[in-house]
Amino acid sequence: MLGTEVVEAYRRDGSVVIAGMLPADVLAEVASDVPGSGTLHSPHQTSPAINRVCRRADLVGAAMDLLGEQVYIHESRIDVGEHLESRWREDGIPAPNLVTAVVFLDDGSVLLSHPGTVPSTAGRQTLVVVYNAVSNPPANKRPMPVVMSTVGSRRAAYARRLATASLDRGDPTGWFEELYAAAQRGETKVPWADLTANQYLVSWVAGRSGTGQRALVVGCGLGDDAEFLAGLGFDVVAFDVSQTAVDGARSRFPTSTVDYRVADILDPPGEWRASYDLVFEAYTVQVHQSAARGQAVKGIAAMLAPGGTLLVLAHSRPFDGEAGPPWPLTREEVGSFAVDGLEPVGITEITDDNPPGRRWLAEFRRQP
Ligand SMILES: C[S@@+](CC[C@H](N)C(=O)[O-])C[C@H]1O[C@@H](n2cnc3c(N)ncnc32)[C@H](O)[C@@H]1O
Repeated sequence: MLGTEVVEAYRRDGSVVIAGMLPADVLAEVASDVPGSGTLHSPHQTSPAINRVCRRADLVGAAMDLLGEQVYIHESRIDVGEHLESRWREDGIPAPNLVTAVVFLDDGSVLLSHPGTVPSTAGRQTLVVVYNAVSNPPANKRPMPVVMSTVGSRRAAYARRLATASLDRGDPTGWFEELYAAAQRGETKVPWADLTANQYLVSWVAGRSGTGQRALVVGCGLGDDAEFLAGLGFDVVAFDVSQTAVDGARSRFPTSTVDYRVADILDPPGEWRASYDLVFEAYTVQVHQSAARGQAVKGIAAMLAPGGTLLVLAHSRPFDGEAGPPWPLTREEVGSFAVDGLEPVGITEITDDNPPGRRWLAEFRRQP
């Protein structure tokens, strides 16, 4: 998301340059669909590559930040050197509640603009996308929506914008701290934090006692699952990569017996190995990709004591039609927890409405 300084600069100067926002391979893909000269109107309706760029969470998110509202694509065009006037009035839009995003495709040099003026794109190859605020639709055009209208999806879009920026920086976990910190400042809500114990954990544990048992909660967020287990008598360690999440859990449950820690499952404390009778992992592996995903699976499996049980929840299909995170786990990936003496007790794909989606519910046991 855009920082306050960027938004203020935009409102003061009428334009703002954000260097390096889009990765080079994305720009190259778009540039390959650009005509030699002149203007191509509405390329997002004909070119899949351009359509994807116009809908990117970071670009749409920037427009949302600048307009303070949800937006749709009002028009797009590929220009080779034109000025950025908008035809909002002739398109029937009652007020110029628009953001014009100009993506430079020819080189990465900094745009020279003068405060209060519309930047010139003269001589440059550009993709121009005009986003209009949802509350201000034209009477005579059918705009193309780019963001979903539910509050939940807006939160997810916010989180994905942070994730995209973090991953582009080569930092696969930094966005969790940013997200929890932004939520603490009241700027968003953490999409998965429903502030109640996981219903699958509650059903699985029903009737069991935790007395004399050690439990580990992976990616514990704000602590509800950890507290639930502690309430059953488990001796609980719960960890998260985000300091703000861990602080949040501690301050929500000031008299808790849970030992909350900041730790990374990609590099866990050695003393946790083979130490827990119950390990609960819900939706943490699925925020990792490639090698880190396998590393997280091995790290979690390694924590289980002989005779211990590992309970895993993960999405099995994309749940809101958007690109990840999260990235659902395949059957094979869920099965890969069965390493190092762990055996599957059951791996089931279930469908649920609350929260919606298809997911894996899997149980593993380490031989005594
Ligand atoms: C999708 S959330 C799920 C949170 C919680 N388990 C739940 O079911 O609501 C993933 C959580 O894992 C944490 N996390 C992500 N990567 C992590 C890592 N490498 N090590 C520890 N925690 C991590 C995040 O900060 C976040 O709280």
